[in-house]
Amino acid sequence: MRGILVTIHVLAAAAWIGGGLFSSVSLISLAKSLGVKTVLSLDQAVGNRFFGAAVGTVALSGVALVLTSDSYGWGTTFVLVGLAVIVLDGALEGAVFGPRLKKLAAAAESGSTSEVDALDEFRRFSLVSTVAHLALVVFALWSMVVRLGL
Ligand code: HEM
Repeated sequence: MRGILVTIHVLAAAAWIGGGLFSSVSLISLAKSLGVKTVLSLDQAVGNRFFGAAVGTVALSGVALVLTSDSYGWGTTFVLVGLAVIVLDGALEGAVFGPRLKKLAAAAESGSTSEVDALDEFRRFSLVSTVAHLALVVFALWSMVVRLGL
């Protein structure tokens, strides 16, 4: 049972990291040929569906691992790091990156920004948000692998 939970947890973390890299490399490289409106709606759809599911699975399986463990508890450092990363990443997406993406999509839709400017902004935005999300999740992953605090 524990083996299945750890496998689900690690697979979801791998999907979060791999999916993050794959989607941003794909969307940045295809932004020009797809057009900014399409690329922005793809980005929003991937963000909501794929990352919502991956992060939710990491969090739920992580909680289940703690609840069924005799060796780790809510006060163990790597568990605290995992929880903090989930909360910080969600806050960053909800308060900074999500609204910024919506604003850019609205500007591109209304035509108040040119296609070239919107593409530039999208590339910059994608780069910054990918680096920020990956830095957080890789830090959490490292803290789990070295069992920080044990
Ligand atoms: C934030 C992103 C997270 C990532 C990338 C991540 C990744 C990982 C990985 C790769 C392992 C396996 C480590 C190894 O066996 O060497 C692991 C183990 C573990 N994780 Fe996470 N995790 C995350 C969040 C969480 C959260 C939020 C919790 C708890 C609420 C949690 C609880 C655990 C526990 C208890 C283990 C040990 C499982 C065992 O007994 O082998 N993780 N995590």
